[in-house]
Amino acid sequence: MKDKFISIKEAMNKGKGKVSIRGWVYRERKSNKFIFFVVRDSTNIIQCVIKNENVSKEIWDAADKVLIETSLKVTGTVRKDKRAPTGYELEVDDMEIVSYAEDFPMGKDQSYEFQLDMRHLGLRSRKLTAMMKIRSTVFGAIHEYFRGLGYFEFQSPSIVNSAGEGGSTLFTIDYFGKPVYLTQTWQLYAEAAIFALEKIYTIAPSFRAEKSKTSRHLTEYWHAEVEATWLDFEGLQDLGEGLLKHIVKSVLEKHKEDLEILERDVSKLEPTVKKKFPRMTYDDVLKLLKEKKGMDIKWGKDLRTIEEDKLSELFDTPVIVTRYPKEVKAFYMKEDPENKKVVLGYDAIGPEGYGELIGASEREVDIEELKRKLKAEGEDPEKYKFYLDTRRYGSVPHSGFGMGVERVISWICGLDNIKDAIPFPRTMTRTNP
Ligand code: 4AD
Ligand code: MG
Repeated sequence: MKDKFISIKEAMNKGKGKVSIRGWVYRERKSNKFIFFVVRDSTNIIQCVIKNENVSKEIWDAADKVLIETSLKVTGTVRKDKRAPTGYELEVDDMEIVSYAEDFPMGKDQSYEFQLDMRHLGLRSRKLTAMMKIRSTVFGAIHEYFRGLGYFEFQSPSIVNSAGEGGSTLFTIDYFGKPVYLTQTWQLYAEAAIFALEKIYTIAPSFRAEKSKTSRHLTEYWHAEVEATWLDFEGLQDLGEGLLKHIVKSVLEKHKEDLEILERDVSKLEPTVKKKFPRMTYDDVLKLLKEKKGMDIKWGKDLRTIEEDKLSELFDTPVIVTRYPKEVKAFYMKEDPENKKVVLGYDAIGPEGYGELIGASEREVDIEELKRKLKAEGEDPEKYKFYLDTRRYGSVPHSGFGMGVERVISWICGLDNIKDAIPFPRTMTRTNP
């Protein structure tokens, strides 16, 4: 077999004539006269047919032993065929087995936990492959967006000495006999680096010891974060909205087929690209939920999953909720100068019940206020010495946010569980494979 190999996608684009492809058997069906394989590679799947009368006994016998996931190379004639799963069929005249497969353990009707145990093999499924392609575009789009706006990519450490987002979800690790933590956010380091670079972003893993099992929480997730000097609260909202729009637009442009494989209704994503996101205060949300959903939420309570979900039912784009009560938000968020009870922070809540996609705020610059808030949370300001130093040498107004990349992928792909938005999910009960 000395032909040049092309991808399945290229073979289908060619549409007729001789082609050689290579890949893995996705499905197989055998009779006395015909053997049908659906072969997949990273680009698509194609039905191949081997006719007993057309090939040598050697090839026929080899094909007869093929099971799902056998890797092989085939040469034959491709033509349009409406009955074939992707509209083309390849009639094989030569075939070479690269490696036979054992009985493939995955199939339909298996429990979700079993599928997760077998994730190393499950990645080959069409749905997870489609998700991973979209995921790649999402990461690319984040880089494009920030770099396009003149942001530098900046890296912070993963091993840290203090909490960025509160002690209750910190992972402690044994660091040569001393307890240190896995980072929850780059933020404290980013606030040091903006005094050099001014506009920075990152995409990196963040770690949260989430003790709850939900369809939205991972213990290790990818966090796209941004921090900038002189960025005001309005600008911070524009930046978050612009990022989500750019990501969704990029995926819609490049992944029509993948979204189809995921059975995603793309009309649900289009408004995000076209419409301005509603922006409302926490107070407005309480009124709206009372009026439209009959929900009584006591002022001062954080919005929980149930409230976020009900709110998301009222809109077809993400909603930017601003000015939460300061008690429910992190110590570094700046108080609203016009209302000391709330902070200049926002959450962008995804549509269709996908929850908080972005958490954002203007940062408190007053060092005494920061110390006071840290103490109120039971933290020792001594541990935050390096962070507090950033306020001592020419502090300036600045803002930033963090976006949960898997939350966004879940929403775009229409997934039921965030575990399917990452190849190898980590949760309270899962670190394997
Ligand atoms: O709202 P969070 O906790 O904000 C911060 O960490 C800020 N320091 C970010 C910043 O301003 N630089 O987290 C940000 C986002 C959330 O909006 C959510 O999308 C995601 O991170 N997130 C999670 N995603 C998956 N699993 C978890 N356990 C997550 N926790 C937060
Ligand atoms: Mg948050």
